[in-house]
Amino acid sequence: MTNGALTDEALLALPKAELHLHIEGTLEPELAFELAARNGIELPYASVDELAAQYDFDDLQSFLDLYYATMAVLRTRDDFAELTRRYLRRAHAQGVRHAELFFDPQAHTARGVAFNDVVDGIGDALDEAERELGMTGALILCFLRDQPVASAEEALTAGLARRDRIVAVGLDSAEVGYPPSLFEAVYARARASGLHAVAHAGEEGPPAYVYEALDLLGAERIDHGIRSIEDPELVARLAREGIPLTVCPLSNVRLQATPDLRDHPLLRLDDAGVRVTVNSDDPAYFGGYAGQNFAAVRDALGLTEDQARRFARTSIEASFASRERKDALLAEVEGWQP
Ligand code: HPA
Ligand code: ZN
Repeated sequence: MTNGALTDEALLALPKAELHLHIEGTLEPELAFELAARNGIELPYASVDELAAQYDFDDLQSFLDLYYATMAVLRTRDDFAELTRRYLRRAHAQGVRHAELFFDPQAHTARGVAFNDVVDGIGDALDEAERELGMTGALILCFLRDQPVASAEEALTAGLARRDRIVAVGLDSAEVGYPPSLFEAVYARARASGLHAVAHAGEEGPPAYVYEALDLLGAERIDHGIRSIEDPELVARLAREGIPLTVCPLSNVRLQATPDLRDHPLLRLDDAGVRVTVNSDDPAYFGGYAGQNFAAVRDALGLTEDQARRFARTSIEASFASRERKDALLAEVEGWQP
């Protein structure tokens, strides 16, 4: 037990699982330019600095516009492998031992990229990280909620043939106006096929979307979920039912969901008994990977050793890793010495 504030080094060393990470959101400006050159694609920015200067967002949509435009440089299996390789190395250096990666297949197949090239490229890097870094991971197929349900159904059909890599379905993209209820049948089919279910809800959307994600989609974790704090009955239910929230503090600041991190509900949710985890969402765009999100929370809200260890433990327990893998990682968390 230390008395002073947790150091950056301690928070980076804390063994953790990353449960809310969009692999396309790890595309750093340098790699975007490298891939653009390799694939003969012109980015509408003169330099890495000019692209990085665009990372100033008003809300979720203003981010998504840049996110979808920039991912156009990802074309081949090798591109997805390189993207994922770089993410996993950075994440490993920040204590991530297990990573469940969201990917947005519809955003790639719509551009003529083969579904299996995306899955295989990411998978190549996951295999490499397991061999070289001892990390584990899996994929979560996200449906774009602002696209037609028929397109989600097609993505699911492709995904069901890749159960070797895909462990769950998720729901992302523009939230307000696209309630979870739209995807009830798609999720029912996914769950009937044995996939786990998670969903973004309560990032910009109201608490009602969190209820829908739980009751209509069968979501086992809620991604973000921060607006649950507005509804005490919902907070009590999340706590009672042990529903984990995958919270992304730096994302919430950058997308103005919580413009000042000092107002962030993370610790209030924890105090209320909700199982919260700390994640990085789209770290290339939002200013920090997993360990840096912990450090930002420490700076703005204060973070005790007990809280940090609890969030790490929860991230592992709430993951879809095997019981055996969870036990090994939990032992690493108990061995953490800040
Ligand atoms: N919210 C919704 N959709 C997304 C996000 C997010 O934070 N990042 C990538 N797609
Ligand atoms: Zn997200």
